[in-house]
Amino acid sequence: MRASLTGFLTAWLGGPRDWFTERPGACVMSAHSKVAITSETATQWKSAMARALSDTGVDPDLGAQINVAFARMAQGMAMAMAMRGG
Ligand code: HEM
Repeated sequence: MRASLTGFLTAWLGGPRDWFTERPGACVMSAHSKVAITSETATQWKSAMARALSDTGVDPDLGAQINVAFARMAQGMAMAMAMRGG
């Protein structure tokens, strides 16, 4: 899971796209087809990722921008799952 998330984020942030080429047709929604993401778990995920980013010592301005993108993505996933009925 650690390797997969690292690979996804590498591609998502503009690096090598191996995660996508190794998984034809996969996307962030299909990766969560068996996970019920609610607004609450999305908030927990955002906090965990913000802590993880801060632990890396990333440049604070860059970290803040990534956190905004993470927040949009996590909340969007919760909304999409709520619309399709969990
Ligand atoms: C919003 C709240 C989120 C929750 C609660 C959550 C939870 C999970 C869980 C439980 C898994 C394991 C699925 C399995 O065992 O098949 C997983 C996998 C994964 N998640 Fe999330 N996730 C969230 C958001 C995100 C976001 C926003 C991203 C991308 C930025 C992401 C990227 C991934 C990736 C790449 C995997 C690995 C998929 C695989 O290799 O099978 N997740 N997530």
